[in-house]
Amino acid sequence: ELLDGGPKPLAGRTAIVTSGPTHEPIDPVRYIANRSSGRQGHAIAAALAKLGADVTLVSGPVTISDPAGVKTVHVERADEMLEAVVSRLPADIAVMVAAVADWRVATSAGQKIKKKSGEPPPPLVLAENPDILKTVGHHDKRPKLVVGFAAETQDVEKNGRDKLLRKGADLIVANDVSPETGIMGGTRNRVKIISAKGVEEWPDLGKDEVAARLANLIAGRLAGA
Ligand code: CTP
Ligand code: CA
Repeated sequence: ELLDGGPKPLAGRTAIVTSGPTHEPIDPVRYIANRSSGRQGHAIAAALAKLGADVTLVSGPVTISDPAGVKTVHVERADEMLEAVVSRLPADIAVMVAAVADWRVATSAGQKIKKKSGEPPPPLVLAENPDILKTVGHHDKRPKLVVGFAAETQDVEKNGRDKLLRKGADLIVANDVSPETGIMGGTRNRVKIISAKGVEEWPDLGKDEVAARLANLIAGRLAGA
């Protein structure tokens, strides 16, 4: 960091970023999860830190390494991610990038569930997970700037705008994650930035470039631009 002489418009600001999937246990050896490499969230944490922010990254299980210059907290489940985020408020900036599993298994088994041949497979009863972005967006210690993502496979803009309002976010970074886009698990992203001001379309960019642009946008917003 000492060698990075770039501008530091986020010096003195704190940020919390979530990234990666969550794993919701079925039993000690099995889980349900969303697809997520953590690449975009980790890149955003690093980009905010590069602009001088004091960044805590709350990451679900990923195979990529912790970004330099950031404090990384590792969690597994959505309820752990929520606790890790809320316990770190207040903060100036929250960027919720994690692909949180929408459901957990209502009563996960303490022991490995054994297959019994000839018998029907065990039913999975699901319960809804807490919405971390929505909790932060409506919190009494709400950060000045709350940013969410909207991973969609159709009606990207409409669904993104709905999420902006419902979750109390200032910005939604919406993207089309249909399999043919190659965005999931890839290194590139093509996003739309949705806010009360309208929609801004960004070109196809590397996830690092999306992160750098978003960090600049956040810095501008906090500076009153
Ligand atoms: N999010 C969250 N906690 C959840 C679910 C989602 O914090 N339990 C956040 C994500 O990190 C993202 C935003 O909410 O910033 C939108 O996530 P998404 O999965 O697209 O939206 P959902 O509200 O879960 O709706 P759906 O999956 O049905 O489209
Ligand atoms: Ca979801």
